[in-house]
Amino acid sequence: MINMDALFAEARKAAENAYAPYSKFRVGAALLCKDGEIITGVNVENRSFGLTVCAERNAIFTAVGQGRRDFTALAISTPDSVDPVGPCGACRQVLTEFLPPDALVRFAGSGKTQINTTIGALLPLDSLHDLLQLTTSS
Ligand code: THU
Repeated sequence: MINMDALFAEARKAAENAYAPYSKFRVGAALLCKDGEIITGVNVENRSFGLTVCAERNAIFTAVGQGRRDFTALAISTPDSVDPVGPCGACRQVLTEFLPPDALVRFAGSGKTQINTTIGALLPLDSLHDLLQLTTSS
């Protein structure tokens, strides 16, 4: 049983390390590996704004760099917004490269509302398998 509360707590803690002097919008992401290890990432901004990298992608790139590719869940904390803020489109694409459609995702801001969803819901019909099924069934 995956403890999403504990995973979210790690994302929230990581958000404290975000480097976001321009947007003042800190993001922390925590990836749960199959063996129970948790890898975190934060958004790292730059004075050339387009060079900013989101928390979710930094978490994935860190984990993959450490030889980890088996992820079962992801939590994202955005403590500077009251409401939940989901991953951007670029991050969804990168996440689906490594997380299976049934991987659990939770995101929340500082308020009570939490979104609990899956990678497949965030980027449906993404896998080659799904696309092949679509093209051969019509
Ligand atoms: N950001 C993330 O880190 N992840 C998201 O899913 C949304 C946006 C960052 C990028 C930028 O540093 C700040 O949040 C404001 O867009």
